[in-house]
Amino acid sequence: MPFLSDHHGCQGWKGEMAERIRAFDWSVTSLGSLRNWSHSLRSTVQLMLGSPVPMVMLWGPLGYMIYNDAYAVFAGGRHPYLLGCAVELGWPEVAEFNRGVMSTCLSGGTLSYRNKELVLLRNGEPENVWLDLYYSPVAGDNQAPAGVIAIVVETTAHVISEQRRQAAEDNLRQMARSLEQRVLEEVNARLAAEEQLRQSQKLEAIGGLTGGVAHDFNNLLQVIAGNLHLLARHEPDNGNVQRRTRAALTAVERGAKLSAQLLAFARRQPLSPALYDPRELDRGLADLLQRALGETIRLQVQLPAEPWCIHVDRHQLENAVLNLAINARDAMAGEGTIGISVENLLLDQTFCAGKDLSPGQYLRLTVADSGGGMSAEVLKQAFEPFFTTKTDGQGTGLGLSMVFGFVKQSGGHIEILSHPGQGTRVQMYFARSIAAPVSPAVGPVPRASAGQERILVVEDDSDVRSAAVEMLRHEGYQVCSAASGDAAMQLLAQGLAVDLIFTDVVMPGQIKSTDLATWARTQAPPVAVLFTSGHTRDMISRNHQLSPDTHLLSKPYSPEDLSAMVRSLLGG
Ligand SMILES: Nc1ncnc2c1ncn2[C@@H]1O[C@H](COP(=O)(O)OP(=O)(O)O)[C@@H](O)[C@H]1O
Ligand SMILES: [Mg+2]
Repeated sequence: MPFLSDHHGCQGWKGEMAERIRAFDWSVTSLGSLRNWSHSLRSTVQLMLGSPVPMVMLWGPLGYMIYNDAYAVFAGGRHPYLLGCAVELGWPEVAEFNRGVMSTCLSGGTLSYRNKELVLLRNGEPENVWLDLYYSPVAGDNQAPAGVIAIVVETTAHVISEQRRQAAEDNLRQMARSLEQRVLEEVNARLAAEEQLRQSQKLEAIGGLTGGVAHDFNNLLQVIAGNLHLLARHEPDNGNVQRRTRAALTAVERGAKLSAQLLAFARRQPLSPALYDPRELDRGLADLLQRALGETIRLQVQLPAEPWCIHVDRHQLENAVLNLAINARDAMAGEGTIGISVENLLLDQTFCAGKDLSPGQYLRLTVADSGGGMSAEVLKQAFEPFFTTKTDGQGTGLGLSMVFGFVKQSGGHIEILSHPGQGTRVQMYFARSIAAPVSPAVGPVPRASAGQERILVVEDDSDVRSAAVEMLRHEGYQVCSAASGDAAMQLLAQGLAVDLIFTDVVMPGQIKSTDLATWARTQAPPVAVLFTSGHTRDMISRNHQLSPDTHLLSKPYSPEDLSAMVRSLLGG
């Protein structure tokens, strides 16, 4: 019976490949003409054709190919060319691989691969395919291996979807990691902002306390100083009295300096801000600093070509830089380089968060050293008044607190970057000012009878008042006094003519010192007003910054301070 003439109900035995195999002229191959095929060859081919799995037989040393319908699908555009083709000609792109297969299996071996990646040109284009491959020998008539049978299961779709899944998982893991990272960063930023807030609240609280103490302290010093001066004047020829009052007044001066430093920390020192060009740092201040610091310290000043101007009290700014430079020198044991640098900076919302600054243009003034740096503990307390790590007599602990108060009172921000052994950078930020420089206010018109003018002293503390009255009388002025703003206004309303009102800033009663000043300004000619205070208050100054036409004599003052101020206001 001719081969495959009856399919006996098997799909594969009557399919396309069965048809093609019967029609093919096998006599040109090592299988020989179909009619002469051995029983075992026929039954192997029939086994293959009956299988739903893609299978191919490679016959003889050249591997002539016979395959089933499922393999024809796998072969794509290569089918039907592959039928009866030597395998190396059929799949030239994987010729070497197939050579290995043939030699292994014709020697009786088997091979199997899972997801073997190959590049095939099934439809003219190279494509990556993944295959499960199983190779085993097929016996010839002499029962020795004469061919190879291959089961070829394509897993490309599965491998690609697996790769996609893997990539998606990696992606997800990556996203989860970066999300975790971001949450961590957010939390850390929040903690840092909270810590900053705690620090600033602490300094705020200490500031309130210190400012109050310094204010009362100044009033006491004023009484002591005033009476000491008067005592000295009453006993001009008593050497003993002169010596002792001088010693006592020196102590009063030290007390006054201390209380000025405390007021600076409490952001209540009188400031006279004006337009400041940072180039002044290089022009004037550098020389002064160099002299103060000594020859073993090198100063390096760095400025941009066009530094922005700021609005600050020049004297206090330079004092701040001096304090920072002295700290830097101490940190470097007196030897090394101190860097003073100025930068124009744009601060954004993120930077300003929790710093009491609004985004915008700022000048950053940095004082940097390569000294011993600060531990986290020291850094936490560095701005507190009286905090010092220096030995007795070496440090007062008031330097940084003063600088802190000054910067804050000037509407700026200050921060310290420091690590033990890695030096310190103190950075001060001040808002850029684009205002034109203010010309100094014009003083009152000079009067003819200098030294004979009438002065009204308004002061609620009777000791302070009587000392002031006596000092001014001693200078030759006509002096009258009032214990409150109300009493003063009553005298003025009754027609008391005065040339100057010398008034305490804060007093009990309806009429405030500012009301007296307003009255004085509206007189013709205007009456001069001199304020005195233990510290400045918002009543006469905004943020403790005096306007150019406000004159303030800080307590405690000496008779010389008082008479110089009065004389300058009266134009004498
Ligand atoms: N540049 C700096 N390098 C290292 N530590 C510093 C520096 N500046 C300040 N400190 C630390 O801060 C403390 C407080 O400084 P400060 O208020 O100026 O007081 P003082 O200099 O009188 O000790 C110092 O005692 C020191 O421990
Ligand atoms: Mg210091």
